[in-house]
Amino acid sequence: MIWNLGSINVDNFYYLPHLVAPGETLAATDYKQGLGGKGANMSVACARAGARVSHIGAVGPEGKWAVDRLLEYGVDTPHITLTETPTGHANICIDRAGENSIVLFSGANGVLTEQMIGGALTQASAKDVLLMQNETNGQPYAARTARTLGLQVVYAAAPFSAEAVLEVIDHIDLLVLNEVEAAQLRDATGKELSDLVIENIVVTLGSMGCELIARNSAAATRLPAYKVNAVDTTGAGDTFTGYLVAGLDRGMAMLDALDLALRAAALMVTRRGTADVVPELREVRNHNF
Ligand code: ADP
Ligand code: NA
Repeated sequence: MIWNLGSINVDNFYYLPHLVAPGETLAATDYKQGLGGKGANMSVACARAGARVSHIGAVGPEGKWAVDRLLEYGVDTPHITLTETPTGHANICIDRAGENSIVLFSGANGVLTEQMIGGALTQASAKDVLLMQNETNGQPYAARTARTLGLQVVYAAAPFSAEAVLEVIDHIDLLVLNEVEAAQLRDATGKELSDLVIENIVVTLGSMGCELIARNSAAATRLPAYKVNAVDTTGAGDTFTGYLVAGLDRGMAMLDALDLALRAAALMVTRRGTADVVPELREVRNHNF
């Protein structure tokens, strides 16, 4: 089973003739609301990949629909706390050319307590996995607690912060990050990734696939991406990580789990949207690339 300490955001999409200028009032031509946040996206990806996943997070008084949505997508929700703090959200303005500007408010994602996180993890078993990203508070506490309980700890280092990685680096078994984040981590630590004391590091390389840096292996392993006609890369990283962790959670070997993740992420870039369009395991398995 996977325990995912993660953000839950409401994504508000405003479609505009042009991006709003300072002092301007502008009517949107269309509006859509969707479930977002890297945490929620990864929980949905884990569930679509066939894993049992319990989300650890928080929403505000108006965020109950986001919890309902996660539940409908097959995610366990008893450890999502209803708080007085507003639900995290992203207000995304999109102009006719597809250019965007985004206001992010972390809200309830930043008010998790040790009781909430620890309370959830007391239900975990030593065969379970803790997954985290960098959009909630409480990551170091969660990582330490999970490690003490014998869980595997997976950290997706996005949005990237070197300080956030350094706070958990001694307590994680698998680090997942993209190429840009990998370069930032090299700069921040002054070390090559292969010199960090982490069992496995996976660097995603967009249309180039991914690279595995394993502690027990001298050289990194490159795995190419599956060739697709990419139309929208949003959600690709979250889909990749969700599928990878789901595969590992059910005992797949690392290279097999990575192959599954590459397949799922490739399908994801052929679709517009995020959580709502993460492919299901059956589609991923049956698709001929
Ligand atoms: P992020 O979105 O987090 O920056 P990447 O851009 O590295 O991460 O993409 C994550 C994964 O999605 C890649 O490792 C790859 O498997 C898949 N992916 C991304 N872009 C493409 C593409 N154009 N074609 C096929 N797979 C892709
Ligand atoms: Na997509």
